[in-house]
Amino acid sequence: MSATPDLATRSALPAWQDLQTRAAAMQSLHLRDLWQAPSRAADFSRRTGPLLFDFSKQRLRADDLAALFALARECGLETAVTGLMRGDPVNNTEGRAALHTALRASPDEVIEVDGRNIVPDVHASLVRMESVVRRIHSRQWRGYTGKAITDVVNIGVGGSDLGPFMACNALGEFIAPAARDLRLHFVSSIDGTQIADLLGSLNPETTLFIVSSKSFATLDTLSNASTALQWMLEDSGDEDLMVRHHFIGVSARADRMTEWGIPESNQIGFWEWVGGRFSLWSAIGLPVALLLGMSGFRDMLAGARFMDQHFRSVPLEDNLPVLLGLIGVWNATFLDIRGHTVLPYDGRLKFFPAYLTQLEMESNGKSVSRAGGALDYRTCPVLWGDVGPNAQHAFYQLLHQGTQAVSCDFIAPVRRYDEHRQNHELQVQHQLALANCLAQSRVLMLGDACVEDGESAPGFRRYRGNQPSTTILLDELSPFTLGALVALYEHKVFVMSVIWDINPFDQWGVELGKQIAESTYLALQLRQTGAFDGSTNTLMAHILAGGKEAS
Ligand code: F6P
Repeated sequence: MSATPDLATRSALPAWQDLQTRAAAMQSLHLRDLWQAPSRAADFSRRTGPLLFDFSKQRLRADDLAALFALARECGLETAVTGLMRGDPVNNTEGRAALHTALRASPDEVIEVDGRNIVPDVHASLVRMESVVRRIHSRQWRGYTGKAITDVVNIGVGGSDLGPFMACNALGEFIAPAARDLRLHFVSSIDGTQIADLLGSLNPETTLFIVSSKSFATLDTLSNASTALQWMLEDSGDEDLMVRHHFIGVSARADRMTEWGIPESNQIGFWEWVGGRFSLWSAIGLPVALLLGMSGFRDMLAGARFMDQHFRSVPLEDNLPVLLGLIGVWNATFLDIRGHTVLPYDGRLKFFPAYLTQLEMESNGKSVSRAGGALDYRTCPVLWGDVGPNAQHAFYQLLHQGTQAVSCDFIAPVRRYDEHRQNHELQVQHQLALANCLAQSRVLMLGDACVEDGESAPGFRRYRGNQPSTTILLDELSPFTLGALVALYEHKVFVMSVIWDINPFDQWGVELGKQIAESTYLALQLRQTGAFDGSTNTLMAHILAGGKEAS
């Protein structure tokens, strides 16, 4: 049954209708036609702290942008931002706040949930993380035979994996000296491949598992944790001993960690008001803290706090998350651009697009309003991405000559290799990456017009251009700038959700699949082949026959 249409829909707003007319007019314009005003580059870029945000290659004119700000105001964006950060129950289907910003609040801030200031709890949790990090770094955390820990395995999935995995990959160069001898690993997939491969290379005496799960009920994580525990028990059958020395739990559900067997001393808690995909800043970020040390982790929090303050205080017109979000809505909803790709020109950010797929698509991949009515406009586009220079050799063909309109975010650090410490060749490589970044966004904008005789080329060598992009330049990639970048996208997601009138903090769309998987698993165990639809029954019969022709 589909939801009934929402009568108070955004599309009835005057600014929305104005934007529809504007978008229709934009369809007959090419990006290269928008460069009449000599001040466009300056008018369509903003500098904030360590970020330069250039949106001059978007299919937007100044008055379109003004209309987007008008829409934001008609949708009550400023009030919504205040409500988010104040701890209003913005996650209305689950009746709770979404206070990831409180996780990076300074100790003197007051943010209340149910009449209680939660900032001291946040800082107490950071102190607890710090003590775990110190014990591991100082080799005081010992395995059951008394040996120091050499390998830490984070077991988690979705928000309990993608954020720390992405950040650890991005910030490897900032490793704390005390972490040099520590190896970090990540295991997420339910099928067991990752953990099976990994366990073969680990020593149970010196391995520590972090079982990371907000709910502590996610099958993927619990099944990997069980496999890990069984592997440990092959070494010594004393379960209490093994768990006490080799398992840490990170969760909002202390009761379930205890039930699983993790002693209180090995638990680090966080709170229901932290959304899973917004939880990098909580104890879910423990692997990042282990890599960087607590001071590096706090630098990342400081970067996010910098962006929070910017988001909360800067007028819409100069506010980066607002601009990024409004541009996203303009492209997806008004220009009907259904694909969005994120292209870091820095291999360290390889997993940033994968992190954003969850952040954006699980948050805004929705078709009902906050009140539950059907939306009559398009919301979140399909998002994907990869390291830009690699993607040039993979899917840029489609961006340049395919039939899909796709919007792009180019991300690159201005400075990379230290000229005193690193060799000349690496500095050349960084310049090559930057040149490619600028070249690709330019060709995507202008197409054939980049070269003199471009328009006389045969069809297969023509480039239509007109693919819009934003370029975000970081002064350099560091814990601080990564924190700011991630918070920028978190707030972008919120801005879009306000304009679309969506609750971005729930994810009901993933529940049914989990439920059906349970009954399917049971049917597989019981070898019941006829319980489902024809396709599923046939596939199941094939599986139960071991891949041979089912009789
Ligand atoms: O199934 C989706 C989801 O609930 C995500 O929202 C979440 O990040 C992930 O699963 C993992 O959940 P948990 O941290 O509770 O194990």
